[in-house]
Amino acid sequence: MKDQLIVFDTTLRDGEQSPGASMTRDEKVRIARNLERLRVDVIEAGFPMASPGDFEAVVAVAREIKDSTVCALARAIPRDIDRAAEAIKPARSGRIHTFIATSPIHMQEKLRMDPEQVLKNAVDAVKRARQFTDDVEFSPEDAGRSDIDFLCRVVEAAIAAGARTVNIPDTVGYTLPNQFGELIRTLRERVPNSDKTVFSVHCHNDLGLAVANSLSAVLNGARQVECTINGLGERAGNAALEEVVMAVRTRRDLFTCDTRIDTTQIVPASRLVSNITGFPVQPNKAIVGANAFAHESGIHQDGVIKKRETYEIMRAEDVGWVANRMVLGKHSGRNAFRTRLKELGIGFRSDDEFNSAFERFKDLADKKHEIFDEDIQALVTEEGLENIDEQFRLASLKVCSETGVKPRATVSLYVRGAQKSAVADGGGPVDASFRAIESVIASEAQLLLYSVNNITSGTDSQGEVTVRLERAGRIVNGHGADTDIVIASAKAYLNALNKLVLSGERAHPQAGAPI
Ligand code: KIV
Ligand code: ZN
Repeated sequence: MKDQLIVFDTTLRDGEQSPGASMTRDEKVRIARNLERLRVDVIEAGFPMASPGDFEAVVAVAREIKDSTVCALARAIPRDIDRAAEAIKPARSGRIHTFIATSPIHMQEKLRMDPEQVLKNAVDAVKRARQFTDDVEFSPEDAGRSDIDFLCRVVEAAIAAGARTVNIPDTVGYTLPNQFGELIRTLRERVPNSDKTVFSVHCHNDLGLAVANSLSAVLNGARQVECTINGLGERAGNAALEEVVMAVRTRRDLFTCDTRIDTTQIVPASRLVSNITGFPVQPNKAIVGANAFAHESGIHQDGVIKKRETYEIMRAEDVGWVANRMVLGKHSGRNAFRTRLKELGIGFRSDDEFNSAFERFKDLADKKHEIFDEDIQALVTEEGLENIDEQFRLASLKVCSETGVKPRATVSLYVRGAQKSAVADGGGPVDASFRAIESVIASEAQLLLYSVNNITSGTDSQGEVTVRLERAGRIVNGHGADTDIVIASAKAYLNALNKLVLSGERAHPQAGAPI
């Protein structure tokens, strides 16, 4: 009988800390439903103290999710803990995750606290959280660069105060796999009450070692891994859930533990997170990249045809790669559409919302005969976008693109209800469209990233465009999908501008001294 390896997904919290990856409450709920279907044990839904919107999103996830524990992050300060407790109240199973930094550089430069103060705050925080729930997790932030003697003292005190899980973060992705594994082993051996807690790890990918470090920790006794779908997360990201889970499953000869994860839900979850955040998945990404199971060279193909195990250590279908299945089409009615939405875990709050999604579906089915799950997910994401309080909306776009002639775009927009038009030339049709939009809006935003991906295969696929804009230090991602990629681009650009206007102040959990 193998031990259970607890999978703690932090896509909705650390993942959301990636620049531009912020999600709306409804998007978080959609992803949370997918994580539940994936059979993730713990979903870290957010940092409720960040803003009222973040608090509401954690509450919504806590209300919705039944089969996974819903966790909220709190700094080691009373009002954060009280807010986290309030947010997870509706959860069938709720956890508070409180943290404070223990490395010399973080204590001196960020917290401006001495080690004894940090130790006291850690203990007080765990005790306070325990007044609300038995399920309390404690993290000594930047453990990877902390003094081992001090770290042992803090961990021992946190366990004595009631932390049922102690999470060891490599916050800046600094350690190497042998070192990090050794750290977990040392803590388990040296901390006298270490058998009273579950050791967890939370590795960042700054040196590309997040998964390797996490696995090394598991081999040394860690029994919870914190990870994100597609490895999303602060800077270079966190350990990728799909890689950790499949490594443990594939190398079951080496691991004495296993997860509860339904691996066939991995690819759908990856696509959904990519669609909602606008962070494309690189084609050569392990497990979920488009090429992960593709064989180019004749020798490999020959080997795979004769016996698949010659070049494949996992089966594509085991991680959810099924050939795009045509689920709906032009003649599908409301019931078929509603049923498929239900199967995908997508709900609507009102009939109006459903009707408008159905109209969009019919429009799409006119342009594209086969509608796949990915098309439906993109359509629902678009639906959500239209529900944000839009200041700018595309009325029409005409683009002339011809060999030897500068492309010209004529755009008509609704700007706070009033229709305005402009014409602009550009280096290409997308450039011309963005220039035309800018000559109406004059946003002064800087374009940081533009990317386009096909949602499904074939030239009639919808193009999914992500536009990342920055203004005054604020970064947002906009998305748009359409069978016409120039129109998708214009929608994505306007979506980003709408988000720039609407995005409010949010506190970052790891930003500085708690005030
Ligand atoms: O990277 C980190 O240290 C964190 C903590 C809040 C656990 O995200
Ligand atoms: Zn982190």
